[in-house]
Amino acid sequence: MDIRTIGEEDIIPWTAALGIGFLRVPDDNKDNREKRLAHWRQRVDFSRTRGAYDGDRCVGTFRSFATGLTVPGGAIVPASAITNVTVSATHRRRGLLTEMMHLDLADAAARGEALAILIAAEYRIYGRFGFGVATDYQKFSLDTLRTDFVPDAPVEPGARIELITPEEVIELGPPLHEEFRPMRAGAIERTPLWWRLYTGLEPSPINPVPGRFYAVYRDPSGKVTGMVGYRTDDHWEEFVPKVTLTVDSLLALTPAAEIALWRFCVNVDYVNRVEGPDRSPDELLPLLVRDPRAITTQTRRDFVWARILDAPAAFSARTYGTRDRLVVEVHDDLGHAAGRFAIDGAAEQARCVPTGDPADLALDVATLGALYLGSGSPVRLAAAGRISERTPGAAERAEALLRTAREPWCPDWF
Ligand SMILES: CC(C)(COP(=O)(O)OP(=O)(O)OC[C@H]1O[C@@H](n2cnc3c(N)ncnc32)[C@H](O)[C@@H]1OP(=O)(O)O)[C@@H](O)C(=O)NCCC(=O)NCCS
Repeated sequence: MDIRTIGEEDIIPWTAALGIGFLRVPDDNKDNREKRLAHWRQRVDFSRTRGAYDGDRCVGTFRSFATGLTVPGGAIVPASAITNVTVSATHRRRGLLTEMMHLDLADAAARGEALAILIAAEYRIYGRFGFGVATDYQKFSLDTLRTDFVPDAPVEPGARIELITPEEVIELGPPLHEEFRPMRAGAIERTPLWWRLYTGLEPSPINPVPGRFYAVYRDPSGKVTGMVGYRTDDHWEEFVPKVTLTVDSLLALTPAAEIALWRFCVNVDYVNRVEGPDRSPDELLPLLVRDPRAITTQTRRDFVWARILDAPAAFSARTYGTRDRLVVEVHDDLGHAAGRFAIDGAAEQARCVPTGDPADLALDVATLGALYLGSGSPVRLAAAGRISERTPGAAERAEALLRTAREPWCPDWF
């Protein structure tokens, strides 16, 4: 068995293996092959895309790409985003994923990426490699017939909402997202290709874009401070419209923009249900309606998993809730983040440095990843035996130091 980085000539068999790994029946007509080639040529960084080969046959796929991850306080940290992980059913459980993961994490650490991130298809795959759940997402639905907004919800007189075309999304979306990103820990980069795929201006051979409407919110000065992309079904019963409007993406820089966009979606004629499938776990929306029971959370689950590679770089980049100094001892089977570190939440310049001082807390690298973006609770983790307290009260101190008021959220699948 041979594991190697791929080149352009490998794209077709590599993407065929990827499809098979995700149980998609191969569609290998010529037209499809050409579309796949054109698509993946743009998408793949060959220096960090691997295939596992049994002779000539590609039986495993693994890829990562460079991104920037927003951390508490708004700094953007270089991260390795892992995706397209598969091993063919014929070659599963022989250690191929393990080998590809070890190679990719070692490369990422050598490049100076402070951590790796991914979204797990199944919960039990990645903990063993040092990944912990760092962000959650929720899926909710809103009964529009029972939704009216509180009278003192923020509004900006003179603001307006405009429907826009996919071409306008490409123009107005990137600057909005660049301003949004540092505001939300957990957010990642959106490349020009991301915007073209999102709008369907660049057709994707794997995830065709559904017919979708786009709208922006302009504040009273005319600046775009919010954007929504949504689709609708065409459901009627006995001549009564019962349409569901699904919000594929909604970003806002201000609460006024956020509420105006939700209000807009709720008020679209024919719509009696609004769904938000990939929303933050702490939406403002329930606080903005008179009857929060009009909103039903259908799912709240793990989303982005984080694997710390360079603890001093990762933890020096974020800000903290208190000016405390805590020493953590990190266990890491792969060695990347192993050691004892002092996290110092000094207001001027928070820092994390290796230290010989006695540890206040001991934990493994996956738990460290779960704490990184501010959503993990050291007190709960200590109660569950995932963190061991070496100094009495250290878990409480870690709670105040590391947790953030808003939960981290990544709006994007990758
Ligand atoms: C997940 C997947 C890539 C694992 O590949 P693999 O080569 O079989 O994994 P490995 O042989 O390196 O497994 C390493 C260890 O992880 C465990 N493991 C791997 N996948 C697992 C899963 N889905 N559930 C539970 N344990 C899993 C193995 O049992 C093994 O444990 P052991 O060392 O105690 O024996 C493969 O099963 C697959 O392609 N699944 C379908 C596609 C998919 O879900 N991809 C992940 C997308 S995020």
